Amino acid sequence: MKLPPLTIFKKKPKTEAKQEKPTPEESSSPQTLAKGMVNVRDIIAPSAIEVDFNHIKIGNTYYRTLFVSGYPRFVGANWLSPVINFDHSLDIGMFYYPVKSKGVLDDLRKKMTELEATVLSNNQKGRLQDPAVIAALEDAKALQDQLVKGIEKFFQFSFYITIPAESLDELEHITTKLESTLGSLLLISKTATLQMEEAFQSTIPSAMDKLVVTRNMDTTSLATTFPFTSSNLTSDDGILYGINRHNGSLVIFDRFSLENANTVVFAKSGSGKSYLVKLEALRTMIFGAEIMIIDVEEEYRPLCDIVGGDYISFSSNSPSKINPFDLSGIAVEGENELGQKLLSLHTLFKLMLGELSPTEEAILDRALIETYRIKGITTDPVTQKTKEPPVMEDLYKVLLGAEEPEAKGMAERLEKYIKGSLAGVFDAQSTINIGSKMTVFSTKNLEDVLRPVAFFIILDFIWTRIRKDLKKRILIVEEAWNLLQREDSARFIYGIAKRARKYYLGLTTISQDVDDFLSSEYGKAIVTNSSIQILLKQHPAAIDKVAETFYLSEGEKRLLLAADKGEGLFFAGANHVSIKVVASDAEHKLITTNPAEILKLREEGLITSKPPAAKPAYTPVERFEPDKYKTMDTQGNVRPEFAAQMRPAQPTPMPQQPAAPQPSAAPTPIQAQQPPKPQIQQIPQAAAQPQQQQAGPAIPPQPPQQARPVAPPSPPAKAPATFTPQAASDEYKEPSAEDILKSVKEMSSQMSAGLGQKPTATQGPPPPPPLQPSVVGQPLTFADRMQTRPQQTPALPVSQPVSQPAPGTPKPAETPSQSMNFASRWIGLNNPQQPQQGSQPRPTQQPAQQTTPQPQQMPQTQSPQTQTPPSAPPQQPQSGQGQGNVFSLDSSQQGDVSSLK
Ligand SMILES: Nc1ncnc2c1ncn2[C@@H]1O[C@H](COP(=O)(O)OP(=O)(O)O)[C@@H](O)[C@H]1O
Ligand SMILES: [Mg+2]
Repeated sequence: MKLPPLTIFKKKPKTEAKQEKPTPEESSSPQTLAKGMVNVRDIIAPSAIEVDFNHIKIGNTYYRTLFVSGYPRFVGANWLSPVINFDHSLDIGMFYYPVKSKGVLDDLRKKMTELEATVLSNNQKGRLQDPAVIAALEDAKALQDQLVKGIEKFFQFSFYITIPAESLDELEHITTKLESTLGSLLLISKTATLQMEEAFQSTIPSAMDKLVVTRNMDTTSLATTFPFTSSNLTSDDGILYGINRHNGSLVIFDRFSLENANTVVFAKSGSGKSYLVKLEALRTMIFGAEIMIIDVEEEYRPLCDIVGGDYISFSSNSPSKINPFDLSGIAVEGENELGQKLLSLHTLFKLMLGELSPTEEAILDRALIETYRIKGITTDPVTQKTKEPPVMEDLYKVLLGAEEPEAKGMAERLEKYIKGSLAGVFDAQSTINIGSKMTVFSTKNLEDVLRPVAFFIILDFIWTRIRKDLKKRILIVEEAWNLLQREDSARFIYGIAKRARKYYLGLTTISQDVDDFLSSEYGKAIVTNSSIQILLKQHPAAIDKVAETFYLSEGEKRLLLAADKGEGLFFAGANHVSIKVVASDAEHKLITTNPAEILKLREEGLITSKPPAAKPAYTPVERFEPDKYKTMDTQGNVRPEFAAQMRPAQPTPMPQQPAAPQPSAAPTPIQAQQPPKPQIQQIPQAAAQPQQQQAGPAIPPQPPQQARPVAPPSPPAKAPATFTPQAASDEYKEPSAEDILKSVKEMSSQMSAGLGQKPTATQGPPPPPPLQPSVVGQPLTFADRMQTRPQQTPALPVSQPVSQPAPGTPKPAETPSQSMNFASRWIGLNNPQQPQQGSQPRPTQQPAQQTTPQPQQMPQTQSPQTQTPPSAPPQQPQSGQGQGNVFSLDSSQQGDVSSLK
């Protein structure tokens, strides 16, 4: 409805009124009739308007109008939102007057001349310059510059607010409130005293500014006054993310409703990233989504336990294993499973082995194909489904067997994952499955160096599994920058982000290291492939990078710098809102990581006092038998034993029986090391592994300590605190004769006590006979160690752990990292001589006496449960070489594996 200038307010001059008012008789036109009829204005107009000094009263409602006379020097986007969203209804009038640049430029020039004259005269009189004048001059120059170039235009702006109220008291109250709100925005407001009528008219929708209290503004400043920037993100479906800080509405959103369901979360540490993500996971689960999480801090455990999820913790002695060679289930129509697996394995081995030269890549490719072929797996899909996949060690053997020197080098680099410090995690058949509502993969107990590899393997595993059956899933990757440090893994996670949509997967990547994340091209690509981006509190050092990536305004930057826990910006598609994440009390208890709160909850018994010591019986993994390296028989065919089925076990005496006579057989200096061997029989494989090569001879005084206690979950890869002093040192210490004697005596007493029982790590092995004094009296020399090695090592591989070492094993374990040091030292000693036949030089030094006990030892040390290849033990003593080197190959094998080339 178009309102004419409201004449009801006009106090017309009396004379005028007299003239205009025709008597009914005078007016004979049809309008006379119309004037006498009731029209819309008569209906809507109030009966009276009382105009007071500082308010007007229309009907029963009081109105007061304020005008804004002063503005802050700097404003951010949406700076008027507190006024727009004021919790009392207000009538707001804003007027924008474009001003011709020409006139402004003339004025500016005049102003600048004045200012410059001031500066000049100050200079001439030798006075100090007034900084305000200098600043004004600079501002004027900048403005002139922008106006001339057409970058900015010039406007005037006026701003009026009318407050309606039911009573005068209320009016006063609201006026005070509004004035303080405006004051907080650095706006100076004044009541339009004695101009109430004009002021009121300026805020009714008649588009007439009757007050004309204006302020100069350029385009940029003017743009920030746009009032309708508070957007709502309230959908009918979805979950509650938090509260919209602009206007208190709820942010309800379904991430699966967008073109992809990926989310990135960036914020500094402690700002509530995990909290938000956990809350989202918890709420999304209610709608039937499956949640998978890669947890680096074990902080998802309480949540996982409460919702009945699977918490899978990786460490060298945990029962959870992932075999990266696993093929089962990749069968996607039309895809070559093996080919895809090989591609991802290439990436994995680049992560594990470091940079690969083109030759090495080619060798790796052939070796991978060969590794699968040996297990009977080819491009034929049937074999991929029915045959057992190879494990890491199979590849290792194949590499060792290859003739290229590069292959040996790669095998050495791979070694630490199979029997070194990093052994025991990813070198066995998979034992885990996903399918529970929430599956958490914890990498907390893994070595830092292993983490990127672990991330990759876990992601690959998840990716493989989720493609099998379509389900709504969310995959949460904490500390995702771990993956972006290396190009190969970065490409992989980017690939997941890109393809996740097809598999109904929403990928959530969380990163506190924004710089790392965004400086990677793949990181940036992940951001652009994520429909939801959540920014919480940022570090000042990172804010510029974030602002540049997300196109943040100054105001938004400030918001992120000053944000409290759980506050930030939520970008969803085209919308974005300022959000505050809120959880209910019950939810908060599940997801908080505040130590004080957790303690309190534990006291109240609401959460378990400690994460359950989830180290069930550790099932040692069969691994590292020397015969395994013989992949081919002499005719060049794959040995049947080599396939998945077990090899016949050697009929051997029980482990506890044989050891006693054995050491007496050869009372040489080497005997000093014999006692450890029976002991090693009970060592779980992870521990036995490194020892086979060097530990036996190298650390004679510690044999009883080598029984690794497997029960405690924590001491895995690096736990130097658990070593005994001598075990902790990775330097070899020449054992003193007393040491040797002491340990041997200790063992024999243990063994005599436990004889006839099933041996355990604590009970120790059968008693060795007392050592000859002459032996004890002579400390081992370096040459001795060299000699003893070949003799002992072959015996060890077959010493499969049968029994569980008692959890309370008093002697601390030798840690994997320690073992690796031994391993590397050992390699360093031997490899330069003959990489393929590491032990070849040694037999020449080997005294005859040492070879003699060998055949006796072999059967003794084999436990009946182990699958010792029938051929291996006899062969090794015969050949007289390669015994010390568990992975040495005889000449025929080398010929065989050359088929790789
Ligand atoms: N929205 C929130 N409301 C209440 N407390 C929160 C909120 N967000 C985080 N916190 C608390 O702040 C702390 C740090 O949160 P967290 O999610 O672990 O941070 P980040 O993962 O970013 O390092 C925790 O103690 C958590 O309980
Ligand atoms: Mg966190």
